[in-house]
Amino acid sequence: MTEFVKADRLAEVKVSEIVVMSEAARQRQAAGHDVINLGIGEPDFDTPDHANDAAIAAINDHDTHYPPIAGKPALRAAIAALYDGRGGTLRRPEHVLVSSGSKYTLLNAMLASVNPGDEVIMLAPFWTSYADIVRLCGGIPVIVATDGTRQFQPDLDQIAAAMTPRTRWLMINSPNNPSGAILSADALRGIGDLIKSHPQAMLLSDEIYEHIVYSGQFVSVADALPDIADRTLIVSGVSKSYAMTGWRLGYGVGATPLIAAMTAVQAQGTSGTTTIAQAAALAAITGDQSVLATHKDIFQQRRDLVCRHIRAMNGLTTDTPEGAFYVFASWQNCQGWKTADGQILHHDMDFCQFILSKANVVVIPGSSFAMSGYIRISYASSTDDLEKAMTRIADAVASLQPA
Ligand SMILES: Cc1ncc(COP(=O)(O)O)c(C=O)c1O
Repeated sequence: MTEFVKADRLAEVKVSEIVVMSEAARQRQAAGHDVINLGIGEPDFDTPDHANDAAIAAINDHDTHYPPIAGKPALRAAIAALYDGRGGTLRRPEHVLVSSGSKYTLLNAMLASVNPGDEVIMLAPFWTSYADIVRLCGGIPVIVATDGTRQFQPDLDQIAAAMTPRTRWLMINSPNNPSGAILSADALRGIGDLIKSHPQAMLLSDEIYEHIVYSGQFVSVADALPDIADRTLIVSGVSKSYAMTGWRLGYGVGATPLIAAMTAVQAQGTSGTTTIAQAAALAAITGDQSVLATHKDIFQQRRDLVCRHIRAMNGLTTDTPEGAFYVFASWQNCQGWKTADGQILHHDMDFCQFILSKANVVVIPGSSFAMSGYIRISYASSTDDLEKAMTRIADAVASLQPA
């Protein structure tokens, strides 16, 4: 039998360290250990009842046929209305493309716009999939690191230096996965100026965590940069805000030529998003919004719990993140330290595997997000589990011997 040969475009798409950690955790669990998974990137809440009810009604009403490719008119209109009156020009249904998760929106956008060799700038730390999606589409990820000692704000000069005539996109994500950081108004203004001075470049703003914002001031590029709206794609969805990860519904908001090109991709990809998920998303977006504040308050208490534990440890450090549901803690103070078994912890993965074996807690290496020296702790878990997990991590860290 001839051996399967995968396509060249997959050559640089590796199995992520998140998958490696999840598999290691599964094996430990199967061996009878009480593993707490703080590696998960999804809210542990239930989808709101009114969204579930709308989906059930859609089924009972036989709303189960092919959808319009770009999304049902009522949902596109409801999403467009979210951006109406916010300064920019993106406010009509034709500016909106509904897709099967905002991850697919990102893939659509890259397939619709990136030619082989085009460059896409992303600010580290960034969500693992950005670089792989760009590579899958033949593009080149260009990584510009932000400064962990300055709450992960970017250095605009470094972004400017990374921009070339091949720069197709500059991708930003605020609030950020994994750091929870929110881009400052100055940073956004500077980014807008850079886009203006590079006419071939566009701005992709991933705002999927827009409703999970605590102390800081999150400002959408819809409000901050209305003058470049025709060269901006805003990406968001219902997964994180409404605890609807499994419904697979996200959207992009951008100028009509871009949305039309992305719709052409979607026509050959999924043919559109499940009608039932669209009904649920419409109810979530237009229904009772009190769930947003309820989730945010719970997340904030959990964030404070995790930060309190970290500050009491000799080894990990963190600022208080302003949004999303992750703490991106530095372990640089104990990098190179030795475990009781004599293993020296050099890399993020060493540290995460040590935490898994010693504390039975899953955390994700910062290197997965293109920034080493950190671990990502998701606090989308119950207070009891977080309390238990953080106590175990503290004990594990306390068992390390300085080099
Ligand atoms: C920054 C960021 N963008 C996009 C997504 C994808 O979300 P979904 O495809 O569920 O809409 C995630 C999920 O973890 C994320 O963290």
